[in-house]
Amino acid sequence: MPYETITVTPISPVIGAEISGIDLRQPLGNQAFAEIHRALLEHLVIFFRDQDIDWEQHKAFGRRFGALHIHPTAPAPEGHPEILVIHADENSKTIAGENWHSDVSCDAEPPMGSILHLHQVPSPGGDTMFANMYAAYDALSDAMKSLLDGLHARHESRHVHLGRLGNKGRMRDGTDAYPESVHPVVRTHPETGRKALYVNENFTTRIEEMKSAESRALLEFLYRHVETPEFHCRFHWRPKSIAFWDNRCAQHRALWDYFPQTRHGYRVTVAGTRPH
Ligand code: SIN
Repeated sequence: MPYETITVTPISPVIGAEISGIDLRQPLGNQAFAEIHRALLEHLVIFFRDQDIDWEQHKAFGRRFGALHIHPTAPAPEGHPEILVIHADENSKTIAGENWHSDVSCDAEPPMGSILHLHQVPSPGGDTMFANMYAAYDALSDAMKSLLDGLHARHESRHVHLGRLGNKGRMRDGTDAYPESVHPVVRTHPETGRKALYVNENFTTRIEEMKSAESRALLEFLYRHVETPEFHCRFHWRPKSIAFWDNRCAQHRALWDYFPQTRHGYRVTVAGTRPH
């Protein structure tokens, strides 16, 4: 079915499409919302250019897709707990999202999607890579699929968040219990019904039903499998670009090839449901 309110231009056959013909400073009409939602489900990550939105417009766009997620540890600008600051410069020791991951998969109900708006970008460098986890699952043998289909994996966050983004061992709610959860290794997307691989190098630490040597070997195989270039696209940012990705079926990885240049922007994250 053709799109009527937006133009959708795939940037690879497998994942990623650029959306034009929409100004996100304006409230989204129902038709435009439905078409953007459809493009996200079809392409897993969608990109917008030249969007001069402020934090309120950014949050309003996110809220069309669901309640906003609050990050367990990352500090937020005063009065805007839903805004996650993404920043790297000449003083940075690490950056957010440098390993392949699905956002905050340590949560019991990990985010459905994330909407990143960059204001300042390095030139050249600072691209973000995205990987299609339906394609990763579909490419496996039937024997591997039936092994994975019954397995569950633990996703932890202490090793990811402690010391990063200014975190010193405390959650936003004042506790010191870093979130961790057990999720199926293969999840079924609640909207498309398709199966997607759901382990990632950042948060996943072990497969519950296996001995630790078996778990390590299998996870290592799956992490290398996710790196297959044919599952990927690579987005080159310009100031005021937006990337909106579906964490239920895509992973992403931020490239830090631009030190000591500055890269700066804000992320709004849409809450999700428990993976099944
Ligand atoms: C993230 O994981 O949200 C950061 C992605 C990026 O900075 O490109």
